[in-house]
Amino acid sequence: MTNIIKISPSILTADFGRLGEAVAELEKCGADMIHLDVLDGQFAPTMTFGPPMVKALKNYTSLPLDVHIMVNTPERIAGAFIEAGADALTFHAEAAIHAHRVVQQIRAAGIKAGVALNPGTPPEAIAYLLPDIDIVLVMTVNPGYGGQKLIPQTLTKVSVVRSWLDEINPGAEVSVDGGINERTAPLAIEAGASILVAGSSVLDASDKAVMIEQLRQPQR
Ligand code: DX5
Ligand code: ZN
Repeated sequence: MTNIIKISPSILTADFGRLGEAVAELEKCGADMIHLDVLDGQFAPTMTFGPPMVKALKNYTSLPLDVHIMVNTPERIAGAFIEAGADALTFHAEAAIHAHRVVQQIRAAGIKAGVALNPGTPPEAIAYLLPDIDIVLVMTVNPGYGGQKLIPQTLTKVSVVRSWLDEINPGAEVSVDGGINERTAPLAIEAGASILVAGSSVLDASDKAVMIEQLRQPQR
């Protein structure tokens, strides 16, 4: 288990007319990677963008692109996001009939394979994926929107998944996504998260660099 905390700002609430600038600014402000939320309007409300946007944003940052696909049948589209240049590709366990095969496909492409769990989904749903994945993304809000409040009981899931990974796949990381701010970051880290996805808390901050640092080194 790593205790290096990585901050992956989400651009879901950024100005969609200037995503390249938003991404470049986040790199300047010290982000460790950029979280790209892909939504198909079916698996979760809202539609955002597809592989062409991932490809385009690669030209605006040298940071790893942490692509989170909230889409039905990710089997269908994972290849296109790999092609587009995702450095980590996280799909939802609830959306894939052949989840393990999607993990194999992502891993075979040499990028990090992540599986996400909605707040209501028990961790048992991914028990048989744990040996083969790089990231478990525990959704701490229901997918679809930025600016929501963290659902407290999801932190218990973070601890459970972290304890399982410590046994089975200690190099894998737990990421939390939704409602992460200066108040909830220390709780998530304490529960076992080492990747913090933060959208509105960073994008709305008066000083993004200070906020990113604060999330990374929370004062208890
Ligand atoms: C929600 C997305 C999250 C969201 C986080 O569907 O997966 O990444 O953008 O936004 P905040 O940090 O504002 O809750
Ligand atoms: Zn996300």
